[in-house]
Amino acid sequence: MSASDRVQALREAIERHNIEYHARNAPLIDDAEYDRLFAELQALEAEHPELLSVDSPTQRVGAAPLPEFARVLHETPLLSLKNAFTDEEVAAFHRGLSEKLAGEVEYSVELKLDGLAVSLSYENGIFVRGATRGDGTTGEDVTANLRTLRDIPLRLRGGGWPAHFEVRGEVLIWRRDFESMNARQRERGEKEFVNPRNAAAGALRQLDPRVTATRPLRFFAYGIGAVKGAGLPGTHSELLGRLAGWGFPVAAQTRRVSGLAGLLAYYAEIGRQRSALPYDIDGVVYKLDELAAYERFGFTAHHPRFALAHKFAAEEAVTELLDISIQVGRTGALTPVARLKPVFVGGVTVINATLHNEDEIRRKDVRIGDTVVVRRAGDVIPEVVRVLPEKRPVDARRFDMPQNCPVCGSIVVRSEDEKGEKGEKGVAAAVARCSGGLYCPAQRKQALLHFASRRAMDIEGLGDKLVEQLVDNAIVRTPADLYQLGVAALAGLERLAEKSAGNLLAAIEKSKQTTLARFIYALGMRNVGEATARELARHFGSLERLLTADEAQLQQVADVGPTVAQCVRQFCSEPHNQMVIEQLRAAGVSWSESEAAMPGAGAVAGKVFVLTGALPSLTRDVAGQLIMTAGGKVTASVSKKTDFVVAGAEAGSKLEKALRLGVSVIDEGELLALLQASPPAAPEST
Ligand code: IVH
Repeated sequence: MSASDRVQALREAIERHNIEYHARNAPLIDDAEYDRLFAELQALEAEHPELLSVDSPTQRVGAAPLPEFARVLHETPLLSLKNAFTDEEVAAFHRGLSEKLAGEVEYSVELKLDGLAVSLSYENGIFVRGATRGDGTTGEDVTANLRTLRDIPLRLRGGGWPAHFEVRGEVLIWRRDFESMNARQRERGEKEFVNPRNAAAGALRQLDPRVTATRPLRFFAYGIGAVKGAGLPGTHSELLGRLAGWGFPVAAQTRRVSGLAGLLAYYAEIGRQRSALPYDIDGVVYKLDELAAYERFGFTAHHPRFALAHKFAAEEAVTELLDISIQVGRTGALTPVARLKPVFVGGVTVINATLHNEDEIRRKDVRIGDTVVVRRAGDVIPEVVRVLPEKRPVDARRFDMPQNCPVCGSIVVRSEDEKGEKGEKGVAAAVARCSGGLYCPAQRKQALLHFASRRAMDIEGLGDKLVEQLVDNAIVRTPADLYQLGVAALAGLERLAEKSAGNLLAAIEKSKQTTLARFIYALGMRNVGEATARELARHFGSLERLLTADEAQLQQVADVGPTVAQCVRQFCSEPHNQMVIEQLRAAGVSWSESEAAMPGAGAVAGKVFVLTGALPSLTRDVAGQLIMTAGGKVTASVSKKTDFVVAGAEAGSKLEKALRLGVSVIDEGELLALLQASPPAAPEST
């Protein structure tokens, strides 16, 4: 291919990806790949100046914004940064600056935050407008959304700011918050967000700011744009200090270093800290500290010449997909797992990666034998990101979900809509399930692990490896068998010292004393999570009443709709389950207190509450206890049966849903007032 053809091909590809990435927040390729294409185009254009043209993507910043938001013309463009991947490139950047400056070059060095750039305009210290980057020249007016971020000062603190100026920075979601967002999506059977950056982009570009308000968006300032009036210091590092003083969050790792050695040492240091940071970064940024010297270097159409992004290698790797196998979960759900040629990514060697479900395999068109890109972000389970179709061998094989469970041979059933509710981005994926129930050893193992888990029966020391051996050696078949274990049965097991065997037996013994709610949860009925278990315990007050309740009676429980009622009914009418429950009770599993509440008098009794977000002084547990003591109910999800949603800081989708359904939303103060008006309910005796 001639240089001219290659340049053309690269431009088309980059433009396409620009649109996918900037305008639609739906990148087709990962950043590393994009950066590589961009770098190749830049290099070719440098080598063949005759091929350079004004419409090359290297001559502009991004793609046009979507039409829904008002457009904002940035007073000064939001440029990009030039990327460097090697020490040599950093050295060349440093040389370029030192040649024109006297003495050692001083830099402000910062994290390269992996979020979305925004520009915030301040008029006499008041936040008047905020915009996304858009194509760098024109962005979208997301003022109302940005106002919902508590990180962004609506009125600056202190004084001495310019009469009018733009603050530039990054909007992002912390990993921990991202995990909770996804946990919530999972709980509701909705699609998970791909990564914090995408989740942040989606949240920032919501047309309804009330929805944005429920998302855990954060902001960090890293610079300024247009300025009118005095009030700025002489160096970038002082500027960041001043921004912090005015009330903007500035990333803590920001500092001032000297010379090339200073830059590279910072890069290495942050590289080591990277995985421990609470948010994603994709490199570090070096900026000439002396603001007055900026003019000497100026800008290209794409980036300033006095700053550089030194990027980390993406935590992605290319490897071969050797096979696809099936993992069977506690409720029989089949998850396809890619068996990979071992590959080092994100600090560990990866041999398995999740393919999520059959729909994902089809969507990504993954075949056995394919060369695939694997990603590992932090502690997240590695996943197959995409296939490199050009590397597909002729004998690559399509994968079909098995008709029979690979572990026990039972028929696999597919249910398209068992999770009901539609997700933000579509319908929940279809689930393929082994119909073997506890006949299936895989489900049995998972059921035992669940039974023993901390929030269920809390049997410390009963982990994966042990359960695996207990089930494979037919020592334990059901949770009831655990209570028959003795030293002799455990003696032959691998890697179980006498002492730990003793500890395990003690933990099993201790678990006999439990609560009805824990016990119900431990049984592992499908769709019965902790909160539902608590509600069932509270409502029925005794196991016998729960076991004999029909679907209509079950649906009277706050958290229970037709699907859950059916699952509970099915579980309770299954003779095998009844037998296990009887054996457990015969072995001495018992609960003393009744968790049923008598409807009492007052504003809280008989009312259904949902707690969400961080309350200013009470933990949610304590608030829940108070409500229950006053005869109220606490449920996990918002429905038409909910009377009050108590919302704290960073309340999420529950608040969103409450607003949608018109449920009363109160804060901690209002809750305390209601509780004041409610005498404690009389506890029901067993
Ligand atoms: S300065 C004129 N500083 O990286 C330079 N940008 O590739 C303006 N970014 O769009 C950017 N952390 O969204 C700067 N500490 C930092 C940054 C940073 C992240 C993003 C920013 C920009 C992109 C440039």
